Amino acid sequence: MGGQSEEWVLMVTAQTPTNIAVIKYWGKRDEKLILPINDSISVTLDPDHLCTTTTVAVSPGFDQDRMWLNGKEISLLGGRFQSCLRELRSRACDFEDEKRGIKIKKADWEKLNLHIASYNNFPTAAGLASSAAGLACFVFALAKLLNLKEDHSQLSAIARQGSGSACRSLYGGFVKWIMGKEENGSDSIAVQLADEKHWDDLVIVIAVVSARQKETSSTSGMQDSCKTSMLIQHRAKEVVPKRVIQMEEAIEKRDFSSFARLACADSNQFHAVCLDTSPPIFYMNDTSHKIISCVEKWNRSEESPQVAYTFDAGPNAVMIARNRKTAALLLQRLLFHFPPHSDTDLNSYVIGDKSILQDVGVQDMKDVDNLPAPPEIKDNIPPQKSKGDVSYFICTRPGRGPTVLSDSQALLNPETGLPK
Ligand code: DP6
Repeated sequence: MGGQSEEWVLMVTAQTPTNIAVIKYWGKRDEKLILPINDSISVTLDPDHLCTTTTVAVSPGFDQDRMWLNGKEISLLGGRFQSCLRELRSRACDFEDEKRGIKIKKADWEKLNLHIASYNNFPTAAGLASSAAGLACFVFALAKLLNLKEDHSQLSAIARQGSGSACRSLYGGFVKWIMGKEENGSDSIAVQLADEKHWDDLVIVIAVVSARQKETSSTSGMQDSCKTSMLIQHRAKEVVPKRVIQMEEAIEKRDFSSFARLACADSNQFHAVCLDTSPPIFYMNDTSHKIISCVEKWNRSEESPQVAYTFDAGPNAVMIARNRKTAALLLQRLLFHFPPHSDTDLNSYVIGDKSILQDVGVQDMKDVDNLPAPPEIKDNIPPQKSKGDVSYFICTRPGRGPTVLSDSQALLNPETGLPK
């Protein structure tokens, strides 16, 4: 190991997207290796709007492994994180940078300590799968730094051991996590079904719902479901295998009606399993239910579904619209039913791809106040408005997989290896 001086810092910076499952993973057959009881399918979200950036650095000058998340130092002792680290380190290869005179032999990697800095471009606590993007980014960046020869699928099997859903963030577009059969988990990997360009009409609107209660974590929630729910077994054995085949076909043919029907049904069944758990788990709240009923009412008033909705282990709604025109109509409805508090700036209430606001025809709060009631509710009881129930909306689309960024975008100082 070494170079002309022992002061060098070698680093890699990467960006990794988050993903939303349209066929949910819920339940493990192996807690330690994180092996699921069913396949799952997800859509990768555009990293321009939701992503994690991670810099991993190595230097003979580092005296211990250290990590910073959003600028704050955090512990690296978690078992899952250590599993990923062990898996990656054991696969490290020889590395040489002739120009800088750095040479690291395979065996030397074990002796070198790491500095890791990670940053989410969206609120970590908003329940938007930050751990999936975070772990996938750590695995992807470190694999590059350690000069691993493994492909994305093999890396997905390592990310999986950090958090199940993280394995699907190794690819862009539409991704399937194959549950696998092997006891050692070697065939429990993610594969890409189609890239993000395959179906680029889709527009995704996320309602970040104001949550007052603390949720049950996915990890403990699914453990409880496996122990106490009878529905989960039926779901994993009878329902999901058929749905996965149908969902793959819907994605391949860009058949939005089937896609929406399957995604909504699967989200609803996942939450039914949560309710079937003892004690019952309530991830959705009143606002989530109001959003479902708004979308369902609209979908039923049209000849075919316009929007799909799906909810993970929290109250936030992820809605997938057929195209931009439908997304604008959706946002119009959402802003009508869920206007912000009067003192809110519209610019901070709708974030991500804001250009969609032009299609909605709103420029400021006055325009939001004047939005007409959606035609499908006109003749019914007076339409309900729930001011302040949604914290903000994020407009995005299906997006690309992980990418390596340039050193100028690094989160660590190239000389000290400490956060910039
Ligand atoms: C509802 O991947 O967070 O989002 O594997 O225990 O870390 P662990 O769980 P996690 O569970 C995600 C559950 C879900 C559905 C999904 O993403 O498929």
